[in-house]
Amino acid sequence: MFCADTDVELKTEELKPHSLKSNEVMVETHVLSCDAFIRTILDEEAYHGVVEIDGTLPAIGYGKVIAAGPEANLKVGTMVSGMMGAQTHTVIQANQAFRMTTFPFMSPTSSLGLMGLTSGLTAYVGLFYVCKRPRKGETVVVTGAAGAVGSIAAQLAKSTKARVIGVAGGEKKCNFLKDELGLDGAIDYKNKQASLEEQLAINCPNGIDYIYDNVGGSILDSLLDKINPKGRVVICGAISQYSGNLNKGKVQGPSNYLKLAERGAEMKGFNVMQYMWRIPMALFGMFFMYMRNQVKMTEHIEDGISSFPNALHKMFNGGHIGKMLVDVNGSLKNEKNPVIQKKQD
Ligand SMILES: NC(=O)c1ccc[n+]([C@@H]2O[C@H](COP(=O)([O-])OP(=O)(O)OC[C@H]3O[C@@H](n4cnc5c(N)ncnc54)[C@H](OP(=O)(O)O)[C@@H]3O)[C@@H](O)[C@H]2O)c1
Repeated sequence: MFCADTDVELKTEELKPHSLKSNEVMVETHVLSCDAFIRTILDEEAYHGVVEIDGTLPAIGYGKVIAAGPEANLKVGTMVSGMMGAQTHTVIQANQAFRMTTFPFMSPTSSLGLMGLTSGLTAYVGLFYVCKRPRKGETVVVTGAAGAVGSIAAQLAKSTKARVIGVAGGEKKCNFLKDELGLDGAIDYKNKQASLEEQLAINCPNGIDYIYDNVGGSILDSLLDKINPKGRVVICGAISQYSGNLNKGKVQGPSNYLKLAERGAEMKGFNVMQYMWRIPMALFGMFFMYMRNQVKMTEHIEDGISSFPNALHKMFNGGHIGKMLVDVNGSLKNEKNPVIQKKQD
């Protein structure tokens, strides 16, 4: 289990803009994205790489160039995004900092959330391009449904006119799924009065045609038991398994996988990086749906770099809804976030 108080520490170092190498830039971090993969790389031999002892936690984010080496192709004042690391300032090669993309009618944070590679775009690619997409009348179940990827995957599934059921921990999140996202049902896997299987029987009386799975473990097993003939199971992630060592044989695999054979269903995993050629289409599609009020990203914002470890901890303890962000320099407090509101007829 990751412990925000004892597993990481905050260190202060002096900024030395004058010692930049010719192609380097120094970036003042504005906002960081908190992502589940960060937990996996705290263990040895992780698939996404490993953080060494005394190494800085990796984190995607955006910020402003405040100093540039003589040969860097980015000017002071340019807003850039990239792998900033969990720190207030970072020194990176100019070619590893990308000019920040902003989207009309959206707040800058959408570049990490709704339009971000590891959140909204992962949901878009996963739901529409990995297996045959959901269809009208089918039953879709999304796990981790109140989180960043899950809440978008659930709304995208809803746009196909399928019946969509979300799985999340706690009454508050389940109410969010039904009242805010308009899902057809919500299953509280932490409910002590009704088991997951009992809630599944009520919410999915005709079985499940499509599973978008973010959590793995025993929840995935229970869902597989109800998979329908020709069902599809998209493995996006398995957050219930990230607090062990993923590469040391400690992952709880689905013991119900034979249901796939019995019912002629398929299961396919993906990493968003394997679908980069789909990203332009995903950006276009997501923007179009946003403008039509079909999809929105709720954001949970923590303040200051010292909150980063706790933000990561919260992701594994159900402490947020939607996209987890860290406002490193306080810039979000001053921003007006434009929202698209429905016009009166
Ligand atoms: N395939 C890809 O390319 C790709 C890219 C990005 C992310 N992902 C995956 O997408 C998933 C969601 O990531 P995210 O960044 O959007 O995080 P998130 O959903 O915003 O946060 C994680 C959520 O997981 C739930 N959770 C934590 N521990 C759990 C457990 N033991 N059992 C069930 N649920 C648990 C928590 O919600 P509850 O309160 O409901 O428990 C929490 O809100 C992760 O598995 C991540 O690895 C995959």
